[in-house]
Amino acid sequence: MARILLTGSTGYIGSHTAVALLEAGYELVGLDNYSRSLAGVSQRIQEITGKTYTQHRVDLVDAAALNKVLEQEPAIDAVIHFAAFKAVGESSAYPLQYFRNNLGGQINLMQACDQFGIRNLVFSSSCTVYGNPQVIPVTEESPLLEPESPYGRTKAVGEAMLRDWVKSTVPQDGQERQVIALRYFNPVGAHPSARIGECTVGVPDNLIPYITQTAMGKRAQLTVFGNDYPTRDGTCLRDYIHVCDIAAAHVDAVNRLLGQNSSSSPWSVYNLGTGIGQTVLEMIQAFESVNQMNLPWSYGPRRPGDVVAVYANNRKAVDELGWQIRYSLQDMMRTAWDWEQMQAKDPL
Ligand code: UFG
Repeated sequence: MARILLTGSTGYIGSHTAVALLEAGYELVGLDNYSRSLAGVSQRIQEITGKTYTQHRVDLVDAAALNKVLEQEPAIDAVIHFAAFKAVGESSAYPLQYFRNNLGGQINLMQACDQFGIRNLVFSSSCTVYGNPQVIPVTEESPLLEPESPYGRTKAVGEAMLRDWVKSTVPQDGQERQVIALRYFNPVGAHPSARIGECTVGVPDNLIPYITQTAMGKRAQLTVFGNDYPTRDGTCLRDYIHVCDIAAAHVDAVNRLLGQNSSSSPWSVYNLGTGIGQTVLEMIQAFESVNQMNLPWSYGPRRPGDVVAVYANNRKAVDELGWQIRYSLQDMMRTAWDWEQMQAKDPL
């Protein structure tokens, strides 16, 4: 069976994808520097799947260390590149850290791919590349607007670097490079086992961890950022998608890259969203109704940099990758809450 290298394998999306790939029968090699994740996640991945894989501690910014690991791990068929910083607010405060980590790490990885003959790559991109779109839902052809943050810039530039790379000189073995960029909308929820999920450090930036921590009593109340947006209830609208559905799309993407009738184009992009937009108030209501509780919340000012409304047209991923969405909004809320409670009982 094919061998897949995962960078950022113990992170939120990386860990769920590791489970999905192992369950699909792939062999895995995982890399992480644990700067934003915990090494213990790797045991949980193996516990859920009943399968083993090799996990290495390595920082992609350290090219020599990366190359050393790849010397020990030959015959990699494809790499999925998750490893990156992702906090929007932090990126505005420390843009250079984001450029060094996300773009520097990616350059080292691309170089290592050339050196070790890895021709297939899946890239973690984001709907942030669409900026504040004029027309929704967005398709893959929608214009790429000025990113709202340095984090968003690293995704837009990361995609552009990969586009140039696939067009560059064909490696000596004659095997062309192929890249699939997956533009995630808002990944939420956790594995149904509640053994892996999103590990947040300190005060969460994102809505769902804030909701679950408020439900847990860790936060006094939730603030809804702005109630005067031009949406159906005045709060921002997003396309929330279960992290296991995002993970499944990576298996579909790898199948396509390595399959018999593999991607005709060396560069392709797919939106990963449900195609349904939900407002912040609708998310609070869904959480309250699924988990039968009332959340303390109040309106606060708008959060700088927030996009008003964005959701996906996901036809391309469904038609070309054969991607199927299996989890509902209720599943997102139930699994997010199960994970928060499990973390209180048996923390990672
Ligand atoms: N929100 C609140 N209160 C909170 C947290 C969030 O009202 O305490 C609101 C936000 O204002 C926004 C919505 O909930 O309207 C979703 O916010 P998140 O922070 O959960 O998600 P974002 O849409 O801002 O960000 C996500 C990813 C980023 C990515 C971005 C692209 O976290 O990595 O989408 O649009 F860049």
